[in-house]
Amino acid sequence: MTYCFASRILTRRIAGSVLSLAFLCVPALPSFSAPVRPQPARTSSASDTETRFVDDLLHKMTLEEKIGQMSQIALNQPQDVSPDQRILNGQVGSFLFVTDPNEINRLQHIAVERSRLHIPLIFGFDVIHGFRTIYPVPLALAASWDPAMVEHVQSMAAKEASAVGVNWTFAPMVDIARDPRWGRIMEGAGEDPFLGSKMAAAQVRGFQGETLGSPNHIMACVKHFAGYGAAEGGRDYDSSDISDEQLWNVYLPPFEAAVRAGSGSLMPAYMDLNGVPAAGNKFLLQDVLRDKWKFNGFVVSDWDAVLNLTTHGFASGPEDAAARAVNAGVDMEMTSHVYRDHLADAVKDGLVKQSTIDEAVRRILTAKYRLGLFAHPYVDPSHAAAELVTPEQRQASRLAAERTAVLLRNEDHLLPLSKSLQSIAVVGPLADSKPDIMGSWSLAGHPADAVTVLEGIRKRFGSSATVLSTKGVEIARGQPSIFDSQFPSPQPTLETDAERKAEFAHAIDLIKQSQVAVLVLGEAQNMSGERASRSTLTLPGEQEQLLEAAVATRKPVVLVLLNARPLNITWASQHVPAILDAWYPGTEGGNAIADLLFGDANPGGKLPVTWPRSVGQVPIFYAHNLTQVPDAHNTLYWDASSAPLYPFGYGLSYTSFKLDNLKASAPSVKSGSSFTVSIDVQNTGSMAGDEVVQLYTHQRYGSASRPVRELKGFRRITLKPGEKQTVTLTVDTHDLGFWSPQTHHWSIEPGPFDLWVGASSAATEHTTFTVLPQ
Ligand code: BGC
Repeated sequence: MTYCFASRILTRRIAGSVLSLAFLCVPALPSFSAPVRPQPARTSSASDTETRFVDDLLHKMTLEEKIGQMSQIALNQPQDVSPDQRILNGQVGSFLFVTDPNEINRLQHIAVERSRLHIPLIFGFDVIHGFRTIYPVPLALAASWDPAMVEHVQSMAAKEASAVGVNWTFAPMVDIARDPRWGRIMEGAGEDPFLGSKMAAAQVRGFQGETLGSPNHIMACVKHFAGYGAAEGGRDYDSSDISDEQLWNVYLPPFEAAVRAGSGSLMPAYMDLNGVPAAGNKFLLQDVLRDKWKFNGFVVSDWDAVLNLTTHGFASGPEDAAARAVNAGVDMEMTSHVYRDHLADAVKDGLVKQSTIDEAVRRILTAKYRLGLFAHPYVDPSHAAAELVTPEQRQASRLAAERTAVLLRNEDHLLPLSKSLQSIAVVGPLADSKPDIMGSWSLAGHPADAVTVLEGIRKRFGSSATVLSTKGVEIARGQPSIFDSQFPSPQPTLETDAERKAEFAHAIDLIKQSQVAVLVLGEAQNMSGERASRSTLTLPGEQEQLLEAAVATRKPVVLVLLNARPLNITWASQHVPAILDAWYPGTEGGNAIADLLFGDANPGGKLPVTWPRSVGQVPIFYAHNLTQVPDAHNTLYWDASSAPLYPFGYGLSYTSFKLDNLKASAPSVKSGSSFTVSIDVQNTGSMAGDEVVQLYTHQRYGSASRPVRELKGFRRITLKPGEKQTVTLTVDTHDLGFWSPQTHHWSIEPGPFDLWVGASSAATEHTTFTVLPQ
């Protein structure tokens, strides 16, 4: 008997390779309820038992078997030898992109029962913002300014993924991004190292739980180490040229936070950092990661990145690439079998020490041990289905979507909309698109599970209001996405200009017939993410024209943005009365947006990025240094304002807040200790709502110029109408330290500081304090 099942179809073009597979048919399997290997106890730190277990195993392994553990293959890669045979030969330690529990068990069975040393496989997958239930994209999660919620979201994602047998996610992505042209800005927490560090740690805790191997959790893999977000020109994969000062103070802190939170693995980036490709970069992988941060997890390369050391013009050929990667500290190679084919030769030729191989394998086996894979290699397929898209998952996804939305504009309190509306037009290419509400990296998500904005609004009104809808315009990428065959956005269907004009006119007609128009515009999900950089930030296609024509009808217009990067909405910011940035909110997006539009939820998210007026302003970020014309900072271009459209940390609410009575617990603080700052926050409106209290500091002078403001604390609170709360934030002087380009080390420099607390990076409540020597 044979079970046939559809595997996820994957076609990716990276470094010239095309990988695809449609269906797999596998023989019927015995049941795998009972583990068959001896069961060492699960633990999170190196116990004697663990060390002995790993050492014993290592001792028995041939060089080829060791290299096998260091090799990860995608099941859908074309293989000269079948994956099954590779497992039998001890030539593979891990798979990625296998998400079917039966297939996971089948492969695991070969490894555990039939390979010589019975070493279990580890299964990795990109669980970036959900597995089957999709949550808001990571940039949106950062907009919640709510690390506890973000931790919960990733633990829910881990629960689904672990239920099908995935042990390991390639997340969190913690690359600081200050250039919205870069498509992968969606995968990180935005521009700020402090916010980014909090989000990094929260995600690691969420994925992994208390300790590596916690039930219903998976191993994290912090990526892409380091500086990927600084790609020149915002072009994905392009070089990053980053000064030491920026590297230590801006780009590295979120990685350090993830490592300190216990991330079990780490992935180096694709690009070269200051000339040295990250996968062969000893400074990053040895000096910083191992020597300074004492990282004890294992390092996996990015897709084909070991082979690409030759493509980069760095390694002379595959053997050299294998040697350079492993000597730099890459323990496992993803997909490009250079280790498998050339590492043994590199050892024989004296390019790589046997002890380096042993160290890499030890780390991988230790992770497998800690994850409990030797004890419990199999997953229970009957349990898997019951864990996917459960009401609990949907509820968490909806709540997350509500907490991540950012209200950018709300003239004359247009929002929330009245629940007794009789007619409403829901218009735009994204109004009823299921994949697009999910966002990129939703590879295990099913569009059929998703609720669109149109569906959310229709569900809310039932038959009590007329809800009219059409696209108005269609949008598509200029060139295909590497994920199109796997997770496509709807393609345009209108073929002629006449058809397109008629559709546009139809949309305007529907708006004229309705009391209110909700325009759902932005980017299709495949317009951001990997290999999705842009040279402009305009609304793609004719969406701007549609918006302007909608406003010209004089009907009240609400713009709902679906996006994962700031877009050019400068015109809209002056002419469209209400703008709600919903990001890519995920499976329950449509319901959450309906809750927000009609006031069952109140937006409280804040921007994790500075929002530019035009692409010419990028890179743009709030934590810039002082110039010699500090008061003229908004006039640094003669042809336009150099001020952002919306500052970092900005976001409105349906209610209003008053922040005053700022107090520092002491006028000075000794280096190495901490002090507290309090402020009174009052909800002065008539609706319950959330405010994010944000604390910024500025070191007035020192061994180097420091940014005008830097985020050093925040808290999101909920207040009922009229309610007042004193919010106390702790400033740890450790967070005031920086890596000085003069002294070349990290220090807290005594001297005077400014401090602001408020509801965005433009906070005005101000005080000062002095840091005293220890
Ligand atoms: C991406 C990684 C991802 C990997 C596996 C690469 O192209 O850069 O972020 O984890 O593919 O999907």
